Amino acid sequence: MQNDNVRPESMTRITTKELADAFIAEQIEAVRAQVGDKKVLLALSGGVDSSVVAALLVKAIGKQLVCVHVNHGLLRKGEPEEVVRVFKEEMDANLVYVDAIDRFLDKLKGVSDPETKRKIIGKEFIDVFVEEARRLDGVEFLAQGTIYPDILESDGVKAHHNVGGLPEDLNFELVEPVKLLFKDEVRVVGKALGLPESMVERQPFPGPGLGVRCVGAITRDRLEAVRESDAILREEFANAGFQGKVWQYFTVVPDFKSTGVKDGKRLWDWPVIIRAVNTVDAMSATVEEIPYDILFKIRDRILNEVAGVNRVLYDISPKPIATIEWE
Ligand code: XMP
Repeated sequence: MQNDNVRPESMTRITTKELADAFIAEQIEAVRAQVGDKKVLLALSGGVDSSVVAALLVKAIGKQLVCVHVNHGLLRKGEPEEVVRVFKEEMDANLVYVDAIDRFLDKLKGVSDPETKRKIIGKEFIDVFVEEARRLDGVEFLAQGTIYPDILESDGVKAHHNVGGLPEDLNFELVEPVKLLFKDEVRVVGKALGLPESMVERQPFPGPGLGVRCVGAITRDRLEAVRESDAILREEFANAGFQGKVWQYFTVVPDFKSTGVKDGKRLWDWPVIIRAVNTVDAMSATVEEIPYDILFKIRDRILNEVAGVNRVLYDISPKPIATIEWE
């Protein structure tokens, strides 16, 4: 019997709009045949994979798809707004936007251990999603942005990509239209579906989001320093033509302060650390050599525009020995 979690050798690699259009047409038929007139639930983070699945399913089944976007307060600047604009306003999708910011940040208050932070964020996400799922009637299917590397990494056994660990009684049947595609193919399909470049070409972003870049116990003011400095870095990298060329870049704000001086007064503020790395598989990584004029521009903007910051540092450590993230 053919295993539908194995990519057939004969499957053409999707590299052009024409091939993507043919794939989309095929998947629309397959999804319609699978779900009939039933509702399908999708956790839409705004990342490449879930966004492509959402756009594909909107085309296939319109309002039968219910997208749930959980804003846990750890997303990058402008991301929740972009999800609402693209899916609700432009595609007229059935989108439930959940503002869970206080709920997440309250649970994370005072928690400094990185693994505990990750566990809290993961568990809270499932809890919020399940609450929303239970609020809806007649949902029998769960769509996921599982892609082929997820299946390969989990030995073809199970392919939980977005929402692992849902309670058994929900008993959703999975809808995974891009599960046999590689990342570059998912991006080609996303473009063919009309998703904006900023969504389709996004760099990898960890599930716990900015939570692992606000080192130690998260505070709202330091989290804002991470979010604002990250937005400046991304903007200046885009201006410099680095977007889509450097694999991953972000800022980190550690939980310590150092002395500074402003208007003749001594003050204590945080440093912002810039990280920009290239890698093939994230197992090892090299540091991008950012030209000094660009670094200085980013430094000036961060020091002028981000509250509570008095230093900008550039992390030049490769992986190994450093990891890409700071915790
Ligand atoms: P490290 O820091 O281990 O990161 O060198 C390697 C890659 O994995 C991402 N990363 C995560 N992704 N949940 C995720 O979904 C996590 O908890 C997590 N931690 C690290 C990191 O951004 C990098 O791309």
